[in-house]
Amino acid sequence: RDIGPIIPISNPIGDTDNQTWIVVHMEEAVQILKNAKQFTVDPTSIEEKENFRDKINSKEKSSAPDTFFTGKSMLFLDGLDHRRLRMLVSKAFTPRYMEGLRPRVQEIADELLDKVHSKGEMDLVKDYAYPLPINVISEMLGVPYEDREKLKDWSSAIATGLGWGKQDATVAKNLQEFGEYTKQLVERKRMNPSDDLISQLIAIEAEGDRLDESELISMITLLIFAGHETTSNLIATGSMMLFENPKQLELLKKDLRLIPSAVEELLRYNGPSTAVGPRFAKEDVEISGNKIKKGDMVLVMVKAANRDEKIFTDSEDLDITRKINQHLAFGHGMHMCLGSPLARLEGEIAFTSLLRRMPNLSLKIPKEKVEWQFNLSSQSIDSL
Ligand code: HEM
Repeated sequence: RDIGPIIPISNPIGDTDNQTWIVVHMEEAVQILKNAKQFTVDPTSIEEKENFRDKINSKEKSSAPDTFFTGKSMLFLDGLDHRRLRMLVSKAFTPRYMEGLRPRVQEIADELLDKVHSKGEMDLVKDYAYPLPINVISEMLGVPYEDREKLKDWSSAIATGLGWGKQDATVAKNLQEFGEYTKQLVERKRMNPSDDLISQLIAIEAEGDRLDESELISMITLLIFAGHETTSNLIATGSMMLFENPKQLELLKKDLRLIPSAVEELLRYNGPSTAVGPRFAKEDVEISGNKIKKGDMVLVMVKAANRDEKIFTDSEDLDITRKINQHLAFGHGMHMCLGSPLARLEGEIAFTSLLRRMPNLSLKIPKEKVEWQFNLSSQSIDSL
């Protein structure tokens, strides 16, 4: 049943003065995400509007360092402030730069598969989907090997708690520890710089006074958090999608050249980001006959928009040969995922290496027993 492109719902995370809307069709989703004139990521830019992050901020603020969630990170800024921060790191995420990373990503994937190959079984999440992206982003940033486990714990506690009011205290505690760790890491890099991305961000700061302490810590925590959690989920949930669609898995095994289109299709069909937002209306706006009032919150339901029948033929089917696939898995507009070239590279290498080295790969437990985790905007599997 078509329930229309935009639906008013009771407010899951914001205040109660304004209406919350969810957007489920592609056309309206794109219209809103690219409309930076009438929609903002920063509710404080609308007069007298409380920041939806204040609940967590106030518990955490005290003397704790800022993080991507509590401080000035590009994710929650608009206009010139956003562009400035994004430009400072964008060079490290161009498709060309990514090609330079390819051999090292391949090496990491091979090392992980070497470790489990002779055992005859593996936990696809713990042994592969998780360690691959965290090791890649940690090497880019220069995070010491022994600290990576802690980053995983903080990030997953934050990811699973965000958006659910009852877990605010856990999220706040983990954000605080994550911020403190990052601050110490920055101090160590200041004394002992290297050729990694954190040292480069510090050097920009020293050259032109371009990043203040809050921006620096917020940026690094954002890159660590965004740089691994979702990609791990792509590898884990993507593998699960293939197990659930054995014909597609067989097709892929027979022709690994389909991997790039398979990665796009896994992102579209059931990717790690299930919703993007929130965005807040800066003024009264009418979209497809719906009157969105100034201050109203809008969540774009990526998973629904990615199955919009008007855009995707047989949208409810996983089709790894799909040719035109302009999905919203990485968002759209100014805030569209900065790390998408890296995520695509890692996804491509992860699935290719897995299927090439383990062509008889199958699920050990019945698929109904696999436990999925959901929060407001993402989905993941902890063990597979
Ligand atoms: C933003 C998804 C991997 C860094 C976003 C957004 C989405 C997204 C939907 C937009 C958020 C919004 O508009 O509110 C994903 C998915 C990934 C992935 C599904 C993996 C499959 C990565 C990686 C990095 C990264 C590997 C590397 C550091 C970022 C950053 C932003 C972002 C920095 C903020 C961009 C901005 O505000 O301008 N991501 N992401 N992401 N992502 Fe990713």
